Amino acid sequence: MTEKSIRFTETVLRDGQQSLIATRMPTSDILPILETMDQAGYHALEVWGGATFDSSLRYLNEDPWERLRSIRKRVKNTKLQMLLRGQNLLGYKNYADDVVETFIQKSIENGIDIIRVFDALNDLRNLETSVKAIKKYGAHCQIAISYTTSKVHTVEYFTQLAKDMETLGADSICIKDMAGVLTPETAFELVTAIKAATSVPLEVHTHATSGISEMTYLKAVEAGADIIDTAISPFSGGTSQPATESMAIALQGLGYDTHLDLEKLSEIADYFAPIRDKFRAEGIYQAKVQDTEPKTLFYQVPGGMLSNLLSQLTEQGLASKYDAVLQEVPKVREDLGYPPLVTPLSQMVGTQALMNVISGERYKMIPNEIKDYVRGLYGKAPVPISKEIKEKIIGDEPQIEGRPADLIAPQMDEFAKEISQYAKSTEDVLSYALFPQQAKDFLGRREDKFYDVPVQNVSVSLDM
Ligand code: CO
Repeated sequence: MTEKSIRFTETVLRDGQQSLIATRMPTSDILPILETMDQAGYHALEVWGGATFDSSLRYLNEDPWERLRSIRKRVKNTKLQMLLRGQNLLGYKNYADDVVETFIQKSIENGIDIIRVFDALNDLRNLETSVKAIKKYGAHCQIAISYTTSKVHTVEYFTQLAKDMETLGADSICIKDMAGVLTPETAFELVTAIKAATSVPLEVHTHATSGISEMTYLKAVEAGADIIDTAISPFSGGTSQPATESMAIALQGLGYDTHLDLEKLSEIADYFAPIRDKFRAEGIYQAKVQDTEPKTLFYQVPGGMLSNLLSQLTEQGLASKYDAVLQEVPKVREDLGYPPLVTPLSQMVGTQALMNVISGERYKMIPNEIKDYVRGLYGKAPVPISKEIKEKIIGDEPQIEGRPADLIAPQMDEFAKEISQYAKSTEDVLSYALFPQQAKDFLGRREDKFYDVPVQNVSVSLDM
């Protein structure tokens, strides 16, 4: 009998396909393999949240709730997991508490077992309503740390955060490294410290972008992590997660019980390989997503943010300013109290750095999102913003002290009224609340055969 144990969460149906093919996998590609996936021994299947919802409505002409129910019908033993941005739900703006609670209730009723909830700023006040609702409706509440690097984001800082998450009601904790900047030695220290300070299971989530993810997982597992997130090989590597079978074989060889059936994994991989090839042939799976980007580790800036900045500058004929902007990024970040470089904060910090450099004067031009951030509308900065910077950005306007969502009145009735023409259920109203235009078009096509807005067919880049 082996004493060492490690469990796996399979991401192919959410993060894996979101990272490599912009979440374009239709439900028809998913259903035939679910019974096999259910028998493979996974801890959980990540199936919903993030861009899956938006993409279903916008590009696939599918009802995301129907997808969830079809998956649930076929997956009888394995837990189904979703990702939730706390008070932002699946987007980037705060919703009223009634929308958050109803969305969580319906997600659980339609089949979700585990909700991984996080806030981009790690402001736990933005998670209070979600955590309460997840527990009220009986799902497993996993709270995720938005992992980032900065001089304030130390092992001690994250360990205290993990303790506060446990106090808030977390049934498990995840170190969520969406940018792939977690190094093996920090993973070892962080997992060791959090395991010593808390008593709930600990999961680690990283991306293979910078080329070190398998080492990071190995050190995390050695330090006592309970669960890791991986993607079956055809949808692994690059901007996705390390490959499930490869990690399983390696860890099994090191004496860990992975609880996985390697033959089933191989069947699952054989099933998804031609699907990957189809997306390659269609040009949706692009070679670029498999590029290794160690620059992320040099600059401590996520790969997606580096490429966004470079393309913005190139468009304006200012590619020569790239180094100057890269040097401005950490300064802006310090001014703003070290926000984690995750969506949408990474884009906001990047844009401000770019404006500071190209206008020739710092904070001469300031995007509205940065003003709202300094006003406190996104939540609390990890460290307080100095009086001087605050005055430069919002003058003598007051900053809000409380929980941002306290300022938002209930919204469900209003949303229901706006979409009453097409909505047939609370789920339909929630689709509309989250993605108004996409949901209206989807529901319109469903309910009215003369509704003439076609399914969109443009490509966008998404991260998470
Ligand atoms: Co991810």
